Amino acid sequence: MNVLVIHGPNLNLLGTREPGTYGADTLDAIETRLRSLAGELGVALECFQSNHEGALVDRIQQARGWADGILINPAAYTHTSVALRDALLAVAVPFVEVHLSNVYAREPFRHRSLLADRAAGVVMGFGAESYLLGLRGLVAHLRTG
Ligand code: DQA
Repeated sequence: MNVLVIHGPNLNLLGTREPGTYGADTLDAIETRLRSLAGELGVALECFQSNHEGALVDRIQQARGWADGILINPAAYTHTSVALRDALLAVAVPFVEVHLSNVYAREPFRHRSLLADRAAGVVMGFGAESYLLGLRGLVAHLRTG
């Protein structure tokens, strides 16, 4: 089973970016934990981060034919991107949306996701752990069909 992990804009700054909101883990540290969990679950993982909407769309499109599932933290594009929503629907690969923070406990503009209604599931509010819970959920979803 193959899973593509997508990180949206500004997540490359994790570790130093608003640690009170996003925690102290760097993106590398989160990916190391994800790769270790993927190994336990027998899943092949590819990870991709970009600050550019079009690059994220391109990477999602390239996943067609390889990825069985996508784990995505769309970051700010969660709340704005019709293009990411359309890309995910176009490739028709099941996806799980994750957020480090609980977006519902934050500004109202973060309360809307343009992806969540089409996600297999959404995990938020647990910091780096959201990614690990999201991966477990995605794999269980894919295995049970
Ligand atoms: C985020 C929440 C978004 O609202 C924000 O724009 C991010 C990170 C999270 O993981 O909590 O960049 O997706």
